[in-house]
Amino acid sequence: MEVSLLIARSLEQTIDQIIRDNQELQKLLGNSFDPIIRAADPKFGDFQINGILPLAKQLGLNPRALAMTLLEAIESSQQIHKHYLTFEIAGPGFINIRLNKSLLSEWIRIHHSENVFKNETKHWFKTQKTVIDFPSANTAKQAHIGHLRPMVIGEAIARMLEFCGTKLIRDNHIGDWGTNFGTLIMVLKRNKIDISKFEDPEKALIQIDRLYKEGSHLEKMDPSLRDTSRNELLLLQKGDPTNIQLWQSIVQISNQAFDHLFEQLGVRTDYTLGESFYRDKVDRIYQELSELGIAEESEGALVVWHDEVKKFSRDNKQPFPFNIRKKDGASNYASTDLATVLYRLEHFDAESVIYLTDSRQQDHFQQLFLTTNKWFSQKGYSVPELKHVWWGTILGSDNKPFKTKSGETIKLQALIDEAVERAYSVVSQKNPNLEEEEKQKIAHAVGIGALKYADLSSNRTQDYVFDWDRMLSFEGNTAPYLLYVIARINSIFKKANRQEQSIHTDTSFSIETEYEQTLARKFIQFPIALEQALSDLRPHFLCTYLFELAGTFNSFYNHEKVIHEDMEIQTRRIILCHRTQLILELGLTILGIDTVEHM
Ligand code: ARG
Repeated sequence: MEVSLLIARSLEQTIDQIIRDNQELQKLLGNSFDPIIRAADPKFGDFQINGILPLAKQLGLNPRALAMTLLEAIESSQQIHKHYLTFEIAGPGFINIRLNKSLLSEWIRIHHSENVFKNETKHWFKTQKTVIDFPSANTAKQAHIGHLRPMVIGEAIARMLEFCGTKLIRDNHIGDWGTNFGTLIMVLKRNKIDISKFEDPEKALIQIDRLYKEGSHLEKMDPSLRDTSRNELLLLQKGDPTNIQLWQSIVQISNQAFDHLFEQLGVRTDYTLGESFYRDKVDRIYQELSELGIAEESEGALVVWHDEVKKFSRDNKQPFPFNIRKKDGASNYASTDLATVLYRLEHFDAESVIYLTDSRQQDHFQQLFLTTNKWFSQKGYSVPELKHVWWGTILGSDNKPFKTKSGETIKLQALIDEAVERAYSVVSQKNPNLEEEEKQKIAHAVGIGALKYADLSSNRTQDYVFDWDRMLSFEGNTAPYLLYVIARINSIFKKANRQEQSIHTDTSFSIETEYEQTLARKFIQFPIALEQALSDLRPHFLCTYLFELAGTFNSFYNHEKVIHEDMEIQTRRIILCHRTQLILELGLTILGIDTVEHM
Protein backbone atom coordinates (compact mmCIF):
# COMPACT_ATOMS: atom_id res chain seq x y z
CA MET A 1 0.00 0.00 0.00
CA GLU A 2 0.96 3.54 -0.65
CA VAL A 3 1.45 6.07 2.14
CA SER A 4 -0.56 8.73 0.37
CA LEU A 5 -2.26 11.92 1.41
CA LEU A 6 -5.67 10.33 1.66
CA ILE A 7 -4.51 7.32 3.56
CA ALA A 8 -8.04 5.95 3.94
CA ARG A 9 -8.53 5.97 0.17
CA SER A 10 -5.31 4.11 -0.40
CA LEU A 11 -6.35 1.59 2.21
CA GLU A 12 -9.71 1.07 0.53
CA GLN A 13 -8.03 0.34 -2.75
CA THR A 14 -5.58 -2.06 -1.19
CA ILE A 15 -8.27 -4.00 0.64
CA ASP A 16 -10.37 -4.10 -2.48
CA GLN A 17 -7.40 -5.61 -4.30
CA ILE A 18 -6.84 -8.14 -1.52
CA ILE A 19 -10.44 -9.31 -1.84
CA ARG A 20 -10.15 -9.64 -5.59
CA ASP A 21 -6.92 -11.62 -5.27
CA ASN A 22 -8.40 -14.01 -2.72
CA GLN A 23 -10.43 -16.86 -4.20
CA GLU A 24 -12.17 -17.82 -1.01
CA LEU A 25 -13.33 -14.25 -0.40
CA GLN A 26 -14.31 -13.83 -4.01
CA LYS A 27 -16.54 -16.87 -3.77
CA LEU A 28 -18.05 -15.60 -0.55
CA LEU A 29 -18.53 -11.98 -1.42
CA GLY A 30 -18.75 -11.94 -5.20
CA ASN A 31 -18.24 -8.51 -6.61
CA SER A 32 -20.76 -6.90 -4.36
CA PHE A 33 -18.56 -5.91 -1.46
CA ASP A 34 -17.14 -2.44 -1.45
CA PRO A 35 -14.93 -1.93 1.58
CA ILE A 36 -15.73 1.57 2.77
CA ILE A 37 -13.40 3.07 5.27
CA ARG A 38 -14.76 5.65 7.67
CA ALA A 39 -13.16 7.63 10.45
CA ALA A 40 -13.66 5.77 13.70
CA ASP A 41 -14.23 6.83 17.26
CA PRO A 42 -10.62 7.66 18.30
CA LYS A 43 -11.07 5.36 21.31
CA PHE A 44 -11.14 2.39 18.97
CA GLY A 45 -8.91 3.39 16.12
CA ASP A 46 -8.36 5.80 13.28
CA PHE A 47 -10.61 4.10 10.77
CA GLN A 48 -13.19 1.40 10.52
CA ILE A 49 -14.22 -0.92 7.71
CA ASN A 50 -17.95 -0.63 7.36
CA GLY A 51 -20.30 -2.68 5.27
CA ILE A 52 -19.65 -6.16 6.58
CA LEU A 53 -22.79 -6.21 8.70
CA PRO A 54 -25.34 -5.43 5.99
CA LEU A 55 -23.59 -7.74 3.54
CA ALA A 56 -23.54 -10.65 6.00
CA LYS A 57 -27.24 -10.14 6.59
CA GLN A 58 -27.89 -10.15 2.89
CA LEU A 59 -25.87 -13.35 2.38
CA GLY A 60 -27.22 -15.01 5.49
CA LEU A 61 -23.75 -15.31 7.04
CA ASN A 62 -22.46 -14.70 10.53
CA PRO A 63 -21.01 -11.14 10.39
CA ARG A 64 -18.26 -11.78 12.91
CA ALA A 65 -17.11 -14.86 11.05
CA LEU A 66 -17.18 -12.95 7.80
CA ALA A 67 -15.15 -10.13 9.37
CA MET A 68 -12.72 -12.76 10.63
CA THR A 69 -12.23 -14.24 7.16
CA LEU A 70 -11.59 -10.80 5.72
CA LEU A 71 -9.20 -9.96 8.52
CA GLU A 72 -7.21 -13.13 7.95
CA ALA A 73 -6.90 -12.33 4.28
CA ILE A 74 -5.77 -8.80 5.05
CA GLU A 75 -3.22 -9.90 7.62
CA SER A 76 -1.70 -12.58 5.43
CA SER A 77 -1.45 -10.26 2.44
CA GLN A 78 1.89 -8.92 1.27
CA GLN A 79 0.20 -5.71 0.25
CA ILE A 80 -0.29 -4.49 3.80
CA HIS A 81 2.77 -3.60 5.86
CA LYS A 82 1.98 -4.96 9.28
CA HIS A 83 4.26 -2.55 11.05
CA TYR A 84 2.11 0.27 9.65
CA LEU A 85 -1.32 -0.88 10.73
CA THR A 86 -3.12 -2.73 13.51
CA PHE A 87 -6.44 -4.41 12.75
CA GLU A 88 -8.96 -5.56 15.28
CA ILE A 89 -12.41 -7.10 15.13
CA ALA A 90 -14.93 -5.22 17.17
CA GLY A 91 -18.60 -5.49 18.02
CA PRO A 92 -20.80 -7.63 15.84
CA GLY A 93 -18.55 -7.39 12.78
CA PHE A 94 -16.58 -4.19 12.44
CA ILE A 95 -12.90 -4.09 11.68
CA ASN A 96 -11.09 -1.26 13.40
CA ILE A 97 -7.85 0.03 11.98
CA ARG A 98 -5.22 1.89 13.88
CA LEU A 99 -2.34 3.65 12.18
CA ASN A 100 0.88 2.75 13.90
CA LYS A 101 3.60 5.21 14.84
CA SER A 102 5.71 4.10 11.90
CA LEU A 103 2.98 4.95 9.40
CA LEU A 104 2.33 8.31 11.02
CA SER A 105 6.03 9.12 10.97
CA GLU A 106 6.33 8.11 7.36
CA TRP A 107 3.28 10.16 6.37
CA ILE A 108 4.77 13.19 8.09
CA ARG A 109 8.18 12.64 6.56
CA ILE A 110 6.75 12.51 3.05
CA HIS A 111 4.32 15.42 3.36
CA HIS A 112 6.78 18.19 3.97
CA SER A 113 5.76 20.96 1.60
CA GLU A 114 2.84 22.59 -0.11
CA ASN A 115 3.95 21.09 -3.40
CA VAL A 116 3.76 17.56 -2.09
CA PHE A 117 0.17 18.16 -0.99
CA LYS A 118 -0.66 19.79 -4.28
CA ASN A 119 0.82 16.99 -6.34
CA GLU A 120 -1.55 14.56 -4.73
CA THR A 121 -4.69 16.70 -4.52
CA LYS A 122 -4.40 17.83 -8.13
CA HIS A 123 -5.63 14.41 -9.22
CA TRP A 124 -8.85 14.75 -7.31
CA PHE A 125 -10.74 16.30 -10.25
CA LYS A 126 -8.68 15.59 -13.31
CA THR A 127 -10.83 16.83 -16.14
CA GLN A 128 -13.68 18.86 -14.78
CA LYS A 129 -13.58 22.18 -16.56
CA THR A 130 -15.55 24.47 -14.34
CA VAL A 131 -16.87 28.00 -14.59
CA ILE A 132 -17.42 29.70 -11.26
CA ASP A 133 -19.83 32.63 -11.40
CA PHE A 134 -18.93 35.19 -8.71
CA PRO A 135 -19.02 37.84 -7.22
CA SER A 136 -21.41 39.04 -9.95
CA ALA A 137 -22.62 42.20 -8.25
CA ASN A 138 -25.04 44.66 -9.78
CA THR A 139 -23.22 47.69 -11.16
CA ALA A 140 -23.66 51.39 -10.47
CA LYS A 141 -24.19 50.90 -6.76
CA GLN A 142 -21.64 51.13 -4.00
CA ALA A 143 -20.73 47.76 -2.53
CA HIS A 144 -22.30 47.06 0.84
CA ILE A 145 -22.18 44.30 3.41
CA GLY A 146 -24.28 42.08 1.15
CA HIS A 147 -21.31 41.90 -1.22
CA LEU A 148 -18.99 40.47 1.40
CA ARG A 149 -20.17 36.87 1.19
CA PRO A 150 -20.04 36.43 -2.60
CA MET A 151 -16.49 37.74 -2.59
CA VAL A 152 -15.27 35.82 0.45
CA ILE A 153 -17.07 32.51 -0.07
CA GLY A 154 -16.54 32.68 -3.83
CA GLU A 155 -12.81 33.19 -3.54
CA ALA A 156 -12.45 30.40 -0.98
CA ILE A 157 -14.38 27.91 -3.09
CA ALA A 158 -12.45 28.93 -6.19
CA ARG A 159 -9.14 28.39 -4.41
CA MET A 160 -10.20 25.05 -2.95
CA LEU A 161 -11.20 23.81 -6.39
CA GLU A 162 -8.04 25.10 -8.01
CA PHE A 163 -5.85 23.59 -5.37
CA CYS A 164 -7.41 20.23 -6.08
CA GLY A 165 -6.80 20.34 -9.80
CA THR A 166 -10.00 21.80 -11.24
CA LYS A 167 -9.53 23.77 -14.43
CA LEU A 168 -11.34 26.84 -13.29
CA ILE A 169 -12.64 29.92 -15.07
CA ARG A 170 -13.73 32.75 -12.82
CA ASP A 171 -16.47 34.69 -14.54
CA ASN A 172 -17.81 37.84 -12.92
CA HIS A 173 -21.37 37.99 -14.24
CA ILE A 174 -22.13 41.59 -13.29
CA GLY A 175 -25.65 42.98 -13.45
CA ASP A 176 -24.91 45.82 -15.87
CA TRP A 177 -28.13 45.92 -17.90
CA GLY A 178 -30.71 46.80 -15.33
CA THR A 179 -33.59 49.27 -15.41
CA ASN A 180 -31.72 51.59 -13.03
CA PHE A 181 -29.74 52.89 -16.02
CA GLY A 182 -32.86 54.62 -17.37
CA THR A 183 -33.16 56.66 -14.21
CA LEU A 184 -29.44 57.36 -14.07
CA ILE A 185 -29.25 58.58 -17.65
CA MET A 186 -32.35 60.72 -17.12
CA VAL A 187 -30.80 62.44 -14.14
CA LEU A 188 -27.38 62.86 -15.76
CA LYS A 189 -28.92 64.57 -18.75
CA ARG A 190 -31.30 66.66 -16.66
CA ASN A 191 -28.54 67.94 -14.38
CA LYS A 192 -26.10 68.24 -17.31
CA ILE A 193 -23.46 66.25 -15.49
CA ASP A 194 -20.30 65.38 -17.37
CA ILE A 195 -19.45 61.98 -16.04
CA SER A 196 -16.04 61.91 -17.75
CA LYS A 197 -14.95 64.60 -15.27
CA PHE A 198 -15.30 62.13 -12.39
CA GLU A 199 -11.83 61.12 -11.40
CA ASP A 200 -11.46 58.90 -8.37
CA PRO A 201 -13.66 55.89 -9.24
CA GLU A 202 -14.65 55.27 -5.64
CA LYS A 203 -15.85 58.80 -5.09
CA ALA A 204 -17.44 58.71 -8.51
CA LEU A 205 -19.43 55.63 -7.56
CA ILE A 206 -20.65 57.36 -4.42
CA GLN A 207 -21.80 60.23 -6.61
CA ILE A 208 -23.55 57.85 -8.97
CA ASP A 209 -25.25 56.22 -6.03
CA ARG A 210 -26.49 59.64 -4.93
CA LEU A 211 -27.61 60.56 -8.42
CA TYR A 212 -29.67 57.40 -8.62
CA LYS A 213 -31.36 58.23 -5.32
CA GLU A 214 -32.01 61.73 -6.56
CA GLY A 215 -33.43 60.32 -9.79
CA SER A 216 -35.85 58.02 -8.01
CA HIS A 217 -36.91 60.86 -5.77
CA LEU A 218 -37.54 63.08 -8.78
CA GLU A 219 -39.60 60.34 -10.40
CA LYS A 220 -41.73 60.11 -7.32
CA MET A 221 -42.33 63.86 -7.25
CA ASP A 222 -43.01 64.07 -10.97
CA PRO A 223 -44.32 60.78 -12.37
CA SER A 224 -43.92 62.01 -15.97
CA LEU A 225 -40.18 61.65 -15.44
CA ARG A 226 -40.75 57.92 -15.19
CA ASP A 227 -41.64 57.93 -18.86
CA THR A 228 -38.51 59.92 -19.59
CA SER A 229 -36.40 57.33 -17.76
CA ARG A 230 -38.17 54.47 -19.48
CA ASN A 231 -37.50 56.13 -22.79
CA GLU A 232 -33.81 56.56 -21.94
CA LEU A 233 -33.65 52.88 -21.11
CA LEU A 234 -35.32 51.96 -24.37
CA LEU A 235 -32.85 54.16 -26.26
CA LEU A 236 -30.00 52.47 -24.44
CA GLN A 237 -31.33 49.04 -25.27
CA LYS A 238 -31.68 50.03 -28.91
CA GLY A 239 -28.05 51.12 -29.00
CA ASP A 240 -28.38 54.91 -28.99
CA PRO A 241 -24.74 56.11 -29.07
CA THR A 242 -25.07 58.84 -26.41
CA ASN A 243 -26.80 56.55 -23.97
CA ILE A 244 -24.43 53.69 -24.69
CA GLN A 245 -21.53 55.97 -23.92
CA LEU A 246 -23.06 57.17 -20.66
CA TRP A 247 -23.83 53.60 -19.67
CA GLN A 248 -20.29 52.50 -20.49
CA SER A 249 -18.80 55.24 -18.35
CA ILE A 250 -20.98 54.28 -15.41
CA VAL A 251 -20.10 50.59 -15.74
CA GLN A 252 -16.42 51.43 -15.98
CA ILE A 253 -16.51 53.54 -12.84
CA SER A 254 -18.35 50.79 -11.05
CA ASN A 255 -15.90 48.09 -12.18
CA GLN A 256 -12.91 50.15 -11.10
CA ALA A 257 -14.37 50.71 -7.67
CA PHE A 258 -15.06 46.99 -7.35
CA ASP A 259 -11.55 46.13 -8.53
CA HIS A 260 -10.21 48.13 -5.63
CA LEU A 261 -12.30 46.07 -3.21
CA PHE A 262 -11.21 42.83 -4.90
CA GLU A 263 -7.62 43.84 -4.40
CA GLN A 264 -8.12 44.47 -0.69
CA LEU A 265 -10.03 41.24 -0.20
CA GLY A 266 -7.75 39.12 -2.38
CA VAL A 267 -10.42 38.32 -4.97
CA ARG A 268 -9.40 37.40 -8.51
CA THR A 269 -11.59 37.12 -11.58
CA ASP A 270 -10.66 36.03 -15.12
CA TYR A 271 -13.58 37.45 -17.09
CA THR A 272 -16.20 40.08 -16.54
CA LEU A 273 -18.99 39.13 -18.89
CA GLY A 274 -22.05 40.82 -17.49
CA GLU A 275 -25.70 40.63 -18.44
CA SER A 276 -25.16 43.24 -21.18
CA PHE A 277 -22.71 40.94 -22.95
CA TYR A 278 -25.60 38.61 -23.73
CA ARG A 279 -28.05 41.18 -25.03
CA ASP A 280 -27.50 40.14 -28.64
CA LYS A 281 -27.45 36.45 -27.75
CA VAL A 282 -30.96 36.10 -26.36
CA ASP A 283 -32.82 35.80 -29.67
CA ARG A 284 -31.33 32.39 -30.23
CA ILE A 285 -32.61 31.37 -26.82
CA TYR A 286 -36.19 32.43 -27.59
CA GLN A 287 -35.99 30.63 -30.89
CA GLU A 288 -34.53 27.35 -29.68
CA LEU A 289 -36.77 27.10 -26.65
CA SER A 290 -39.89 27.95 -28.66
CA GLU A 291 -39.02 25.49 -31.42
CA LEU A 292 -38.53 22.72 -28.92
CA GLY A 293 -41.84 23.58 -27.32
CA ILE A 294 -40.16 24.23 -24.00
CA ALA A 295 -41.17 27.90 -23.97
CA GLU A 296 -44.56 29.31 -24.88
CA GLU A 297 -46.28 32.67 -25.11
CA SER A 298 -48.38 33.52 -22.11
CA GLU A 299 -50.14 36.86 -21.76
CA GLY A 300 -47.62 38.40 -24.13
CA ALA A 301 -44.57 37.11 -22.31
CA LEU A 302 -42.47 34.07 -23.19
CA VAL A 303 -42.48 31.58 -20.34
CA VAL A 304 -41.35 28.09 -19.40
CA TRP A 305 -43.44 25.88 -17.12
CA HIS A 306 -41.94 23.18 -14.96
CA ASP A 307 -44.09 20.63 -13.16
CA GLU A 308 -41.18 20.10 -10.79
CA VAL A 309 -41.48 23.63 -9.43
CA LYS A 310 -43.33 23.43 -6.17
CA LYS A 311 -44.08 27.10 -5.87
CA PHE A 312 -47.49 27.90 -7.34
CA SER A 313 -48.90 30.92 -9.09
CA ARG A 314 -51.65 32.92 -7.61
CA ASP A 315 -54.43 30.82 -9.15
CA ASN A 316 -52.80 27.80 -7.51
CA LYS A 317 -53.30 25.73 -10.62
CA GLN A 318 -50.09 26.16 -12.55
CA PRO A 319 -46.58 26.12 -11.17
CA PHE A 320 -44.84 29.45 -11.07
CA PRO A 321 -43.71 30.29 -14.63
CA PHE A 322 -40.12 31.00 -15.58
CA ASN A 323 -40.50 34.23 -17.50
CA ILE A 324 -37.78 34.48 -20.12
CA ARG A 325 -38.99 37.45 -22.16
CA LYS A 326 -40.98 40.36 -20.86
CA LYS A 327 -44.29 41.49 -22.32
CA ASP A 328 -42.62 44.48 -23.96
CA GLY A 329 -40.20 42.12 -25.69
CA ALA A 330 -37.25 43.04 -23.49
CA SER A 331 -34.84 40.40 -22.20
CA ASN A 332 -34.54 39.81 -18.47
CA TYR A 333 -32.41 38.10 -15.83
CA ALA A 334 -33.64 34.68 -16.96
CA SER A 335 -32.98 35.15 -20.67
CA THR A 336 -29.49 36.52 -20.15
CA ASP A 337 -28.75 33.68 -17.76
CA LEU A 338 -29.91 31.10 -20.32
CA ALA A 339 -27.70 32.71 -22.96
CA THR A 340 -24.87 32.64 -20.44
CA VAL A 341 -25.04 28.88 -19.85
CA LEU A 342 -24.97 28.27 -23.58
CA TYR A 343 -22.02 30.62 -24.00
CA ARG A 344 -20.15 28.88 -21.22
CA LEU A 345 -20.72 25.55 -22.88
CA GLU A 346 -19.75 26.71 -26.35
CA HIS A 347 -16.87 29.02 -25.52
CA PHE A 348 -15.44 27.65 -22.30
CA ASP A 349 -16.33 23.97 -22.79
CA ALA A 350 -17.77 24.06 -19.31
CA GLU A 351 -18.43 20.65 -17.82
CA SER A 352 -19.67 22.22 -14.66
CA VAL A 353 -20.92 25.66 -13.61
CA ILE A 354 -21.11 26.92 -10.05
CA TYR A 355 -23.25 29.96 -9.25
CA LEU A 356 -22.90 31.92 -6.05
CA THR A 357 -25.67 34.13 -4.68
CA ASP A 358 -27.66 34.56 -1.51
CA SER A 359 -30.53 32.26 -0.60
CA ARG A 360 -33.19 34.44 -2.18
CA GLN A 361 -32.28 33.29 -5.68
CA GLN A 362 -32.92 29.60 -5.13
CA ASP A 363 -36.13 29.65 -7.16
CA HIS A 364 -34.43 31.36 -10.05
CA PHE A 365 -31.67 28.79 -10.20
CA GLN A 366 -34.02 25.86 -9.79
CA GLN A 367 -35.91 27.03 -12.88
CA LEU A 368 -32.76 27.96 -14.76
CA PHE A 369 -31.30 24.49 -14.19
CA LEU A 370 -34.52 22.69 -15.09
CA THR A 371 -34.86 24.69 -18.28
CA THR A 372 -31.22 24.17 -19.24
CA ASN A 373 -31.41 20.44 -18.63
CA LYS A 374 -34.49 19.98 -20.80
CA TRP A 375 -33.25 22.30 -23.52
CA PHE A 376 -29.67 20.96 -23.73
CA SER A 377 -30.65 17.32 -23.66
CA GLN A 378 -33.34 17.77 -26.32
CA LYS A 379 -30.88 19.68 -28.48
CA GLY A 380 -28.16 17.11 -27.97
CA TYR A 381 -25.82 19.61 -26.29
CA SER A 382 -23.81 18.11 -23.48
CA VAL A 383 -25.40 19.10 -20.20
CA PRO A 384 -22.96 20.58 -17.69
CA GLU A 385 -23.36 19.89 -14.02
CA LEU A 386 -25.03 22.98 -12.55
CA LYS A 387 -24.76 23.94 -8.91
CA HIS A 388 -26.12 26.82 -6.90
CA VAL A 389 -24.07 27.71 -3.85
CA TRP A 390 -26.14 29.97 -1.63
CA TRP A 391 -25.86 31.48 1.81
CA GLY A 392 -27.78 33.07 4.64
CA THR A 393 -27.81 36.60 5.98
CA ILE A 394 -25.31 38.46 8.14
CA LEU A 395 -27.21 39.53 11.23
CA GLY A 396 -26.64 42.24 13.83
CA SER A 397 -26.74 41.58 17.57
CA ASP A 398 -30.53 42.13 17.41
CA ASN A 399 -30.79 39.13 15.06
CA LYS A 400 -31.97 41.36 12.24
CA PRO A 401 -29.93 42.02 9.06
CA PHE A 402 -26.79 43.88 10.14
CA LYS A 403 -27.17 47.65 9.65
CA THR A 404 -25.55 50.84 10.91
CA LYS A 405 -26.90 52.32 14.15
CA SER A 406 -29.08 54.67 12.15
CA GLY A 407 -30.49 51.76 10.18
CA GLU A 408 -28.60 52.17 6.92
CA THR A 409 -26.81 49.42 5.01
CA ILE A 410 -23.16 49.19 5.89
CA LYS A 411 -20.79 49.97 3.05
CA LEU A 412 -18.24 47.29 2.36
CA GLN A 413 -15.33 49.73 2.35
CA ALA A 414 -16.37 51.06 5.75
CA LEU A 415 -16.51 47.50 7.04
CA ILE A 416 -13.00 46.74 5.76
CA ASP A 417 -11.63 49.99 7.20
CA GLU A 418 -13.15 49.30 10.57
CA ALA A 419 -11.79 45.74 10.59
CA VAL A 420 -8.25 47.00 9.95
CA GLU A 421 -8.60 49.80 12.49
CA ARG A 422 -9.86 47.47 15.19
CA ALA A 423 -7.15 44.93 14.39
CA TYR A 424 -4.60 47.71 14.68
CA SER A 425 -5.59 48.45 18.25
CA VAL A 426 -5.68 44.74 19.13
CA VAL A 427 -2.20 44.23 17.65
CA SER A 428 -0.79 47.34 19.32
CA GLN A 429 -2.09 46.14 22.65
CA LYS A 430 -0.66 42.68 22.23
CA ASN A 431 2.72 43.80 20.96
CA PRO A 432 3.36 47.51 21.61
CA ASN A 433 7.03 47.29 20.68
CA LEU A 434 6.47 46.55 17.02
CA GLU A 435 7.60 49.09 14.44
CA GLU A 436 4.79 51.25 13.11
CA GLU A 437 5.03 49.91 9.57
CA GLU A 438 5.01 46.35 10.85
CA LYS A 439 1.99 47.05 13.02
CA GLN A 440 0.06 48.33 10.06
CA LYS A 441 0.99 45.38 7.92
CA ILE A 442 -0.10 42.94 10.59
CA ALA A 443 -3.29 44.91 11.32
CA HIS A 444 -4.20 44.67 7.66
CA ALA A 445 -3.74 40.91 7.52
CA VAL A 446 -5.42 40.29 10.86
CA GLY A 447 -8.34 42.65 10.26
CA ILE A 448 -9.21 41.41 6.80
CA GLY A 449 -8.42 37.84 7.80
CA ALA A 450 -10.78 38.10 10.77
CA LEU A 451 -13.56 39.53 8.64
CA LYS A 452 -13.21 36.81 6.02
CA TYR A 453 -12.70 33.98 8.47
CA ALA A 454 -15.81 34.88 10.50
CA ASP A 455 -17.78 34.59 7.29
CA LEU A 456 -16.18 31.34 6.18
CA SER A 457 -16.23 29.54 9.48
CA SER A 458 -19.99 29.48 9.82
CA ASN A 459 -21.99 27.00 7.78
CA ARG A 460 -22.83 29.12 4.77
CA THR A 461 -26.51 28.18 4.56
CA GLN A 462 -27.13 29.49 8.05
CA ASP A 463 -27.41 33.13 9.06
CA TYR A 464 -24.67 34.34 11.39
CA VAL A 465 -24.38 37.17 13.86
CA PHE A 466 -21.69 39.72 13.09
CA ASP A 467 -19.58 40.37 16.17
CA TRP A 468 -16.40 42.45 16.04
CA ASP A 469 -15.12 41.35 19.43
CA ARG A 470 -15.55 37.69 18.72
CA MET A 471 -13.97 37.71 15.27
CA LEU A 472 -10.95 39.65 16.55
CA SER A 473 -10.48 37.56 19.65
CA PHE A 474 -7.34 35.48 20.12
CA GLU A 475 -9.48 32.74 21.56
CA GLY A 476 -11.96 30.53 19.78
CA ASN A 477 -12.43 29.65 16.14
CA THR A 478 -11.06 32.91 14.74
CA ALA A 479 -8.42 34.09 12.30
CA PRO A 480 -6.29 35.80 15.01
CA TYR A 481 -6.18 32.54 16.98
CA LEU A 482 -4.90 30.59 13.97
CA LEU A 483 -2.53 33.33 12.84
CA TYR A 484 -1.12 33.51 16.30
CA VAL A 485 -0.26 29.81 16.32
CA ILE A 486 1.62 30.28 13.06
CA ALA A 487 3.55 33.21 14.53
CA ARG A 488 4.21 31.27 17.71
CA ILE A 489 5.75 28.43 15.75
CA ASN A 490 8.05 30.90 14.04
CA SER A 491 9.34 32.05 17.39
CA ILE A 492 9.92 28.42 18.39
CA PHE A 493 12.01 28.01 15.24
CA LYS A 494 13.94 31.10 16.13
CA LYS A 495 14.62 29.77 19.60
CA ALA A 496 15.71 26.45 18.21
CA ASN A 497 17.83 28.31 15.73
CA ARG A 498 16.41 26.36 12.84
CA GLN A 499 16.04 27.59 9.34
CA GLU A 500 12.87 26.41 7.68
CA GLN A 501 14.75 24.65 4.87
CA SER A 502 16.54 22.32 7.20
CA ILE A 503 13.23 20.92 8.39
CA HIS A 504 12.60 19.24 5.07
CA THR A 505 15.41 16.77 5.58
CA ASP A 506 14.78 13.26 4.50
CA THR A 507 16.10 11.64 7.64
CA SER A 508 13.67 9.22 9.14
CA PHE A 509 12.42 9.78 12.65
CA SER A 510 9.82 8.24 14.84
CA ILE A 511 7.14 10.05 16.75
CA GLU A 512 6.72 8.64 20.21
CA THR A 513 4.73 10.23 23.00
CA GLU A 514 0.97 10.38 23.27
CA TYR A 515 0.83 14.12 22.50
CA GLU A 516 3.08 13.70 19.49
CA GLN A 517 0.86 10.95 18.18
CA THR A 518 -2.36 12.85 18.77
CA LEU A 519 -0.97 15.74 16.78
CA ALA A 520 0.19 13.43 14.01
CA ARG A 521 -3.25 11.82 13.81
CA LYS A 522 -4.72 15.29 13.41
CA PHE A 523 -2.43 15.95 10.40
CA ILE A 524 -3.78 13.04 8.46
CA GLN A 525 -7.28 14.45 8.80
CA PHE A 526 -6.37 17.52 6.77
CA PRO A 527 -7.09 16.00 3.36
CA ILE A 528 -10.29 14.49 4.72
CA ALA A 529 -11.50 17.92 5.85
CA LEU A 530 -10.50 19.43 2.53
CA GLU A 531 -12.35 16.72 0.65
CA GLN A 532 -15.43 17.26 2.77
CA ALA A 533 -15.31 21.04 2.25
CA LEU A 534 -15.03 20.43 -1.48
CA SER A 535 -17.70 17.81 -1.90
CA ASP A 536 -20.23 20.09 -0.22
CA LEU A 537 -18.65 23.37 -1.31
CA ARG A 538 -18.73 24.44 2.33
CA PRO A 539 -15.48 26.06 3.47
CA HIS A 540 -16.45 25.89 7.15
CA PHE A 541 -15.43 22.22 7.27
CA LEU A 542 -11.87 23.31 6.58
CA CYS A 543 -12.10 26.11 9.17
CA THR A 544 -13.32 23.72 11.83
CA TYR A 545 -10.45 21.39 11.05
CA LEU A 546 -7.83 24.16 11.24
CA PHE A 547 -9.26 25.30 14.56
CA GLU A 548 -9.03 21.75 15.93
CA LEU A 549 -5.50 21.37 14.60
CA ALA A 550 -4.44 24.59 16.32
CA GLY A 551 -5.96 23.36 19.58
CA THR A 552 -4.26 19.97 19.27
CA PHE A 553 -0.97 21.73 18.61
CA ASN A 554 -1.39 23.98 21.66
CA SER A 555 -1.98 21.05 23.93
CA PHE A 556 1.05 19.26 22.46
CA TYR A 557 3.14 22.37 23.01
CA ASN A 558 1.90 22.82 26.57
CA HIS A 559 2.78 19.25 27.47
CA GLU A 560 5.99 18.55 25.59
CA LYS A 561 9.25 20.46 25.62
CA VAL A 562 10.18 21.31 22.06
CA ILE A 563 13.52 22.95 22.78
CA HIS A 564 15.16 19.92 24.27
CA GLU A 565 18.63 18.87 25.43
CA ASP A 566 18.18 15.60 23.51
CA MET A 567 18.63 16.59 19.86
CA GLU A 568 16.72 13.60 18.55
CA ILE A 569 13.65 14.58 20.50
CA GLN A 570 14.01 18.21 19.55
CA THR A 571 14.33 17.37 15.88
CA ARG A 572 11.15 15.36 15.68
CA ARG A 573 9.21 17.92 17.70
CA ILE A 574 10.45 20.71 15.48
CA ILE A 575 9.25 18.67 12.53
CA LEU A 576 5.82 18.42 14.16
CA CYS A 577 5.81 22.20 14.67
CA HIS A 578 6.75 22.63 11.07
CA ARG A 579 3.99 20.40 9.72
CA THR A 580 1.44 22.14 11.95
CA GLN A 581 2.50 25.45 10.52
CA LEU A 582 2.55 24.12 6.99
CA ILE A 583 -1.01 22.81 7.18
CA LEU A 584 -2.32 25.92 8.94
CA GLU A 585 -0.74 28.18 6.36
CA LEU A 586 -1.86 26.06 3.48
CA GLY A 587 -5.39 25.81 4.83
CA LEU A 588 -5.67 29.55 5.37
CA THR A 589 -4.20 30.32 1.95
CA ILE A 590 -6.73 27.99 0.35
CA LEU A 591 -9.43 29.91 2.21
CA GLY A 592 -8.04 33.18 0.87
CA ILE A 593 -6.54 34.41 4.12
CA ASP A 594 -3.06 35.92 4.28
CA THR A 595 -0.77 34.85 7.07
CA VAL A 596 1.91 36.85 8.92
CA GLU A 597 5.32 35.85 10.18
CA HIS A 598 4.94 37.31 13.61
CA MET A 599 2.35 39.20 15.60
N1 ARG B 1 -26.18 40.18 -10.25
C1 ARG B 1 -26.90 39.25 -9.43
C2 ARG B 1 -27.20 39.90 -8.09
O1 ARG B 1 -26.53 40.82 -7.70
C3 ARG B 1 -26.15 37.97 -9.19
C4 ARG B 1 -25.77 37.24 -10.43
C5 ARG B 1 -25.48 35.79 -10.19
N2 ARG B 1 -25.13 35.11 -11.40
C6 ARG B 1 -25.97 34.71 -12.34
N3 ARG B 1 -25.47 34.14 -13.40
N4 ARG B 1 -27.26 34.91 -12.24
O2 ARG B 1 -28.11 39.45 -7.42
